[in-house]
Amino acid sequence: MTNPLEPLVMGGVIPRVDGIAKVTGRAPYAYEQLVERPVYLHPVQSMIALGRVTGFDAAEASALKGVLAVLSPFEAPALTSGTDPELEILQSPDVAFRGQLIGAVVAETAETARQAAGLISVDYEVREHDTAFSADRADLYKPEVVNPSFATDTLTGDPDKAFASAERAVDAVYTTPMYHNNPMEPHATIAVWSGETLTLYDSTQGVHPLRGTIAALFGLAEDAVRVVAPFVGGGFGSKGKPHANTVLAVLAALRLPGRAVKFALTRQQMFSFVGYRTPTIQHVRLGADASGRLTSISNDVVEQTAKLKEFAEQTGLPARSMYAAANRRTSHRLAALDVAVPSWMRAPGECPGMFAPEVAMDELAEACRMDPVELRVRNEPDVDPESGLPFSSRNLVACLRDGAHRFGWYSRQPLPRSALHDGCWWGTGVASSVYPVNQSPGSTATVRFLGKGRYEVRIGAVDIGTGAWTVLGQIAADALGVGYGDVSVDIGDTNLPWASVAGGSSGTTNWGSAIVAAARAFRDKYGTDPDRGSEVTAAQQDNPNTGRYAMYAYGAQFAEVAVDADTGEVRVTRLLGVFAAGRILNPRTARSQLIGGMTMGLSMALHEHSVPDDRFGFVVNHDFADYHIASCADVASVEAQWIDEDDPYVNPMGSKGIGEIGIVGTAAAIANAVYHATGVRVRDLPITADRFL
Ligand code: MOS
Repeated sequence: MTNPLEPLVMGGVIPRVDGIAKVTGRAPYAYEQLVERPVYLHPVQSMIALGRVTGFDAAEASALKGVLAVLSPFEAPALTSGTDPELEILQSPDVAFRGQLIGAVVAETAETARQAAGLISVDYEVREHDTAFSADRADLYKPEVVNPSFATDTLTGDPDKAFASAERAVDAVYTTPMYHNNPMEPHATIAVWSGETLTLYDSTQGVHPLRGTIAALFGLAEDAVRVVAPFVGGGFGSKGKPHANTVLAVLAALRLPGRAVKFALTRQQMFSFVGYRTPTIQHVRLGADASGRLTSISNDVVEQTAKLKEFAEQTGLPARSMYAAANRRTSHRLAALDVAVPSWMRAPGECPGMFAPEVAMDELAEACRMDPVELRVRNEPDVDPESGLPFSSRNLVACLRDGAHRFGWYSRQPLPRSALHDGCWWGTGVASSVYPVNQSPGSTATVRFLGKGRYEVRIGAVDIGTGAWTVLGQIAADALGVGYGDVSVDIGDTNLPWASVAGGSSGTTNWGSAIVAAARAFRDKYGTDPDRGSEVTAAQQDNPNTGRYAMYAYGAQFAEVAVDADTGEVRVTRLLGVFAAGRILNPRTARSQLIGGMTMGLSMALHEHSVPDDRFGFVVNHDFADYHIASCADVASVEAQWIDEDDPYVNPMGSKGIGEIGIVGTAAAIANAVYHATGVRVRDLPITADRFL
């Protein structure tokens, strides 16, 4: 039983068990798994944005020594049709976007495969493509739902009328550009087909969900497919849903039974077909009385999707529930273009959907001559405005107040463009953060007693760099009433009990709930003195509070910026986030998640921007030379704090997800600080130096 001298199991500052292996290069990522007789795949991608492949001449490629197989739209194993148009590659000669996978070469070495792929000559019938995104397209349409199944439009009261008669108003259009997920480890797969079973080492956020998709697509029984992913070097959503790269590796493996087909994307390929965040155009209108009380909130969103497959980012969602106002409207309209399919990127919906409204709140504060912190506090709702449900816990105000205090907020001079020193205009800004407590059913865990006081926990969860290896052990130790050191954890393999995707900041909630259920069932069955080898498998229980409470994590982000008075270069000198995210299970891994999210938000505010060239229909800055991500030199002081929050309703641990909330609101806080510094209101990201000329 728990040794009172041991550090706290839940809430303990425990270093990541995988940390040393990861930073010393000893943790095997997908591509680094030791396999027998590896062969190497290099893809062929479409050089047109719309049309059809009419010729695929691989004679020269096939003649190269070491080339083992060539796949093309005319020569590839069949997939189950009607499952997923994004994944059904090489089944027809049609081309739906530039960069789409249209073939592959497999060879004995990676160099040969790449050289051979370059020798393939492809002929196309070219059709005129349409990749130009704008809010005034005549063909914008209304999707049935937005990701994953939220109402597309909402309307409460009469926001137009309330806006028209508001004493204070903001009416502006805000834009966020296209962004591409770029985890440090690119997508990678090793696929081996034995003739009966398929083994995949894949860089994925969910081994079981990936197995389900691949099995269905290839017409295999689920237990004929094994997916292994013990270590993943980041995902940020792009590894949350399977993409065509994994399918291509499997198609090649079917051609070469017994050979281990290795396929790792280059950084340029990361910009082609593994998802990205849609650009958004958000028309926000806020109406308030003279005291700053909101009477009307609306956010009408336009974003893009692919003609090939729909993905509708739920950008309007945060405006539905963030602040109290009797009259509210949100809507989503899509432009379907000849582009790659957009997908999840860290906090889909909330991330872009809190940029526009939180800059608008700053504009409203100015219109009301109010402090931006006080404006937000004044509009705190009693219950969730959208559902009418009470909040399981909501400590936004505590985050704002605590953050303002820590940051030294109230020493600020309210007027913009009032602090010029050291050649820079200085300013501060604030924005709120929010992220829902997502839960999904079905995760299952096994608890087994190994003897000599030691236990093992098995679950097919994936640690994408979040600390799951460590935190799941803490949860198990706590639920079993033993020390952290008495529990070993095994994750990242479909041979382990079924687990949900590491997405939607829901991993700890789902997997932890399953582990608690298994630990409790174990104690019920075997007591505290079990026999060696005793084990129990149990599934997470449905949360009885779902539908009774609105469950969200909140935060307040504060930014200080210095804008060079001559060059317009923006430096973020300080970032502080204060979060209320339930019980923090491990301060070390939590801090890492939060400052990682905030850093990505800084990167979004100042740097990241995928630039499409509509003449050719592709993203031209498709590498790290041209797609700028914040580097160490761009990041000064980033601090994450949290307040104690006790929430008995969210899950047995009392925790809320923390993987995504850190990026929510950061860009707005920085844009608001930039306005305070310079008097220039930037409503279109990223905030580049030319705005201040
Ligand atoms: Mo996260 S974008 O839900 O993996």
